[in-house]
Parts: sequence; C-alpha cells; structure tokens
Amino acid sequence: MIPVACEIKAADALRGFEVPREKLLSALSLALKKIDRAIDCFGDKFPAPASRANIYGKIENTTGWGNGFWTGILFHAYELTGNEKYKRVALSHIPSFERRIREKIGVDHHDMGFLYSPSCVAAYKLTKSTAARDAALMAADHLITRFHEKAGFIQAWGSVDSPDSYRLIIDCLLNIPLLYWASEVTGDKRYERIAYTHFKTTAELCCREDASTYHTYYFNRETGLPERGVTHQGASDDSAWARGQAWGIYGPVLTFLYKKDEKAVSLFRATTAYFLNKLPKDLVPFWDLSYGEGSGEPRDSSAAAIAASGMLEACRLMNFPTEESALYRGAANRIISSLIDGYTTRDLPDSNGLLIHAVYSKPHGKGVDEMNIWGDYFYIEALHRLLVPDCGLYW
Ligand code: GLY
Repeated sequence: MIPVACEIKAADALRGFEVPREKLLSALSLALKKIDRAIDCFGDKFPAPASRANIYGKIENTTGWGNGFWTGILFHAYELTGNEKYKRVALSHIPSFERRIREKIGVDHHDMGFLYSPSCVAAYKLTKSTAARDAALMAADHLITRFHEKAGFIQAWGSVDSPDSYRLIIDCLLNIPLLYWASEVTGDKRYERIAYTHFKTTAELCCREDASTYHTYYFNRETGLPERGVTHQGASDDSAWARGQAWGIYGPVLTFLYKKDEKAVSLFRATTAYFLNKLPKDLVPFWDLSYGEGSGEPRDSSAAAIAASGMLEACRLMNFPTEESALYRGAANRIISSLIDGYTTRDLPDSNGLLIHAVYSKPHGKGVDEMNIWGDYFYIEALHRLLVPDCGLYW
C-alpha cells in the first residue's frame, strides 16, 4: 500500500540549489576523457558490470544485464558533443544485441529493458535504425513470456516453471518501459497491458507503510496470491536496499510518462521522501538505507545517480506544484554536485570508468566499493539532463 503523506525532513536545505554550469561542464569534460579511454580499451566489446580496483575488464555481449548501459553512455556522449565517433561506436554494438536476443544468449531473466532501452531503443530514437528497433521488439516479445497472468507480474529470474523463482523484483520497473515503447511502435496494446499490470502489482506490494521498499516479492504458485517480501541484494528482508529504493523512485516516473497514472506520482513521492530522509551528510547513500554515518559500510554511488536522474525526470513530467518541484530538483542537483566533488575518477588516471564507491551486491561479495556501469550511465544521463533540460529520453 502506498503511504499518502511523506514529510521530507531536510526539505528547506535541499530546495532551490543548482549546480553551477561551469562545474557541470568540467565534470562532463572529465567524463568524456574517461569515455575516450574506455573506447580504446573495449573496442566493440563491453565493460564488465563492476570494476576491479576501479578498472573495468572487457566482456562479450553474451552475459549479464548491464551491457546496454555502455552503449547508452556513448549515445549520451554523442548527443552532448555532436561527435560522430561516439555514435559510430554505439551503433557498432547493435548487431551483438540483435544476435543475443535472436539466439537467446544469456537472456533467461527479465532485464530486457536494462539491456535494450539505452542501446537499441536509443539507437532507433536517434537514428531510426530498423535493425535496432527489431532487436528491441524481439526483447519485448521475450520479456512478456515471463508474465504470470494469474498473479499479475513479470518473473525476475530463473525458469518460468521453477518452483523457487515465482517472484517479482522492484528493479523491473525500469524494464517495463521497453514494453510501453513496444506498444507505441507496433500499436499492439498487449505489451502495455502487461507492463501496467506489473507496475500496479509492484506498487501495491513493494512499498511498505513507511515508504521503504521490499527488493523482491514472492507469490503462491497455485493461487497467484502474494506471500512475502524478501531481499536479494539488501541487508535484510526488512531493510531498504539503497538501489532498490532508487529503482522505486525512477520506475514510477517512467510509468507516468506512458500512463499518466496518479498512483505513479504517489509512489514517486513516497519512495523519494524515504530515500532523502535516509541520506548521510554528503547525500550519497550507504548500500542499504538501514546504515548511517559511522556504520563503516560502503556507499552505493550508483543508487545516488539513479535517484537523482529519476528526480530530474519527475520534475519534467509530473507537473508538481512549484515548491515541490524546486525540492526534488534541488535535491537532485545537490546529489550530483556531491558525486562530482567526491565520487569521480578524477584522481585515478588509469581508471576507465566514471563513478567510484558503488556496490553491485554486498551479500554476494560482488563489486563492493567499486565502479559499476549503471552508476556511470545514470551519472552521465543526469549530467545531460542538467546541461540540456529538454534532452530526449532513451527509456
Ligand atoms: N538489477 C539488479 C541490480 O540493480 O543490481
């Protein structure tokens, strides 16, 4: 159930701040240098999802859920500079995305939006590439095979028949825009109906009374009834995993874009208030929101970048009263300012990424206090939005 009133404690301190343009431009210039270095490292391959000692290794486009972010970073770099080099490299990735979905390589999961929106949907929006459009539509077709009609959700991981995997996860709010987009492009409303059903189920179950979020939610396979919230990447079943909460901020904004549903606005307000109320002094969360100053736990800068970019997009789409908009915009600007000040690779000349101090999955010992490629993506997306307020959207 989405809570109604959510007070933001530091509202006055957050409201009305803008990162100076010179600071944004200098952050962009550093990011572009790192992207150039990464192009030299990766060629037509992809960075691993998380770095080791702040350097990304190289992978093929056959595994994981993060490769679309690298292509998306290149498209943002292209749009921000007009330099065709970035577009050329991004477009050189499309055949590997096409092959991956056609041959069903490493796609036995729901992350089709993360893989195909910032890559193939972006390529279609920017260049009208029919190959990119067709690959993204194949990914949408694949995603809807994971929808369970009786319970009304898209299954996250594992085989759809597996007895242990009958659950949704909050991250999927960023996968369903691929389905809304597919309905727009094809006129087939099936995709949109599944996306919107999944959204409503997630909003109803994943947001607790205090506006913190469950990472995943299990259902009963026989009856389709919801059973229990469980974490996968958070500190405990009762806590709020920082990146899950950030997906819960950005996700409703994207459903609002396509459905104009007030429930999406309520969910955004609730999850954002909880997130902002849990931030430490420098506004970059610990990897789980149950941790605070003095905990000694690592931060997750990627959660900060996702939340900030989501808040900026919310201000553009959701028609808030002026004061409320100034609050989300101010909070997003302060978060990005803090990332620029303390979380870039400026002092790491050998690094081939953008944002340090992120966590992939602490419980699984993956990418702890490292860079991750989605953190880099949402950071550059937010810089793009701050520099070019009417920039397009890849989701
Ligand atoms: N989608 C998985 C994650 O955010 O790590």
